[in-house]
Amino acid sequence: MIAVIDSGSGGANVILECLKYYNYDFIYLVDNKNCPYGDKPIEDVKKIIISNINFLLKKFDIDFIILGCNTASSIIGYEELERIKCPILKTKPDLPSLVKQNGKKLLFATKNTIDNSNYVKYFLLNYNDIKTLYIKSLPKYIDNYLSNVNKENYEKLEKILKKGLFFHKKTKKYLKNTTNIALGCTHFKHIEKEITNCFDKKINYFYCEKNVAKISNFLIKKKKQDFSIKVILTKKDDSLKKSIMDLFL
Ligand code: DGL
Repeated sequence: MIAVIDSGSGGANVILECLKYYNYDFIYLVDNKNCPYGDKPIEDVKKIIISNINFLLKKFDIDFIILGCNTASSIIGYEELERIKCPILKTKPDLPSLVKQNGKKLLFATKNTIDNSNYVKYFLLNYNDIKTLYIKSLPKYIDNYLSNVNKENYEKLEKILKKGLFFHKKTKKYLKNTTNIALGCTHFKHIEKEITNCFDKKINYFYCEKNVAKISNFLIKKKKQDFSIKVILTKKDDSLKKSIMDLFL
């Protein structure tokens, strides 16, 4: 069984990508109780992730774990990985593809991913034409939106996105002209259309799910005929659970 951990619906995008390569049994821990991870102090997120990992390893027969969350992947370091007696794969923004593009480039992620990932730091240091952007609590807003997609919630999300993207005078012009965006949060694929609508033009997206799905494929010893997905939420929320399950239909 493969365990996938995220603070919300983002992990579903990782599982959906894995399913393009292989069938397997997944246990998907949706830590909605602690969502969003992206703006919390990193020591708190570290503790939360470790306790989620220990819970899963105690309860289920896990072959390996995928951190289906860029934020968790940025925060969990070698020290923690060494202590956990199970292989752990991380999800990272597709910056190698982003840097190859012509035109304005943006890494759209969470605050913790932008500030704390050594991998992100490497790219920002070596490629000074990448701008970064985060919108506080956006993963939480996305989960609320997915739980109830309607006109009112769409308008709410659109307002949050437009404000986050174009509010600051200093970055407004750059962002308006951006054509390449690396989505550095697994939640963001769910609102790709809504993000594009804010720009009013074609955007080239670069996704974080593909690489981790490909790597996980190499770890599978024996492929299965079919797949199963067990979804566990850390806080009861029937409409979020249903909206996540529906993503797999
Ligand atoms: N899906 C998570 C990620 O990829 C969301 C993090 C959060 O909860 O802020 O970063």
